[in-house]
Amino acid sequence: MKLKIAVLAGDGIGPEVTAEAIKTLKAIGEVYNHTFTFEEAVVGAIAIDETGDPLPDSTLKLCLESDAVLFGAIGDPKYDNDPSAPVRPEQGLLKLRKSLGLFTNIRPIKAYPTLLDKSPLKRERIEGTDMSIYRELTGGIYFGEKHKSEDGSKASDLCEYSDFEIERIAHLAFKAARARKKKVTLVDKANVLETSRLWRKKVTTLAESYPDITLDFLFVDNAAMQMILNPSQFDVILTENMFGDIISDEGSVIGGSIGLLASASVGEENAMFEPIHGSFPQGKGKNIANPIASILSAAMLLEHFQLHEEALAINKAVEKSLELNIVTPDLDPNTKFGTDKVGSFIADFIVNADENINYNQENIDYGQSTII
Ligand code: IPM
Ligand code: MN
Repeated sequence: MKLKIAVLAGDGIGPEVTAEAIKTLKAIGEVYNHTFTFEEAVVGAIAIDETGDPLPDSTLKLCLESDAVLFGAIGDPKYDNDPSAPVRPEQGLLKLRKSLGLFTNIRPIKAYPTLLDKSPLKRERIEGTDMSIYRELTGGIYFGEKHKSEDGSKASDLCEYSDFEIERIAHLAFKAARARKKKVTLVDKANVLETSRLWRKKVTTLAESYPDITLDFLFVDNAAMQMILNPSQFDVILTENMFGDIISDEGSVIGGSIGLLASASVGEENAMFEPIHGSFPQGKGKNIANPIASILSAAMLLEHFQLHEEALAINKAVEKSLELNIVTPDLDPNTKFGTDKVGSFIADFIVNADENINYNQENIDYGQSTII
């Protein structure tokens, strides 16, 4: 298969982790005979510095012309504490999602057996967790009309949803559940919000076309609690934009590190793949960022193009690196491996995949990630 991939590495650790995802995709291309081409463009704070615009037209054009977008991270502390900044890096990401029509954001959360003790949550609570959050991404309060009074003493953000916006993501969530544990949980605040009542009504009607799927409902406050009390009860969680933003960060503690969580954002015509962690500016240039979220996002890219075997090869290589403790400091403060070595191990394992290779523990301890 030939795929043209737009690379928007962005800010902070974005470029470092994206480089490892590219390394991994190149290994897949080599082993499975695919031609992946990569073209880079700027986005976020770096794009503001260079062009004044967090999403320059040339970047958007490249994304529209490509088969998929590999996204790193955006954000820079110089904008975080300045509410009066005229342009912000995040606007670039929001505009990109909207312009590419990426209405569904898929965020899988899994408790890896080898990492059960890295989570701040008790092993017995998180064991067996395997859920996928379907977050609506181009509507709701993020994109509703915004207002600020002249004197700056009042502000409002409108939360709006149409039945069309709800139905198109709900279909994807039901279909995903069909290939999983056959359960969809709609997370909303239907006891208070009119938009949530519309979600309930539409999703309930739609569920009739999916009789094999169990649908249940949770208010978002209760869902936030259930996510850490008993996360293995969930299969597919379907929710609106802001609730999905919040509960997916919450879910990241289950896996032991936010550095492991990948995501896919899909629409009718475009698709983008990005780690859910942010730009982690304190880690920039230190070779300590966990590249796994970005690498697993590349696996979701392959999955999107029906390259199941290839996606599985990445997942297996990632699991091997976790098993052998070839990890970055977020997972092991005493590790000898950095971002690049973890990525190289994963790429090497794809090329030389052999479950029975005898890894030389001495070399692993010494910080050599290549297979010997
Ligand atoms: C995310 C991020 C973004 C969001 C920010 C950077 C605008 O937190 O992808 O979850 O809120 O959607
Ligand atoms: Mn977020």
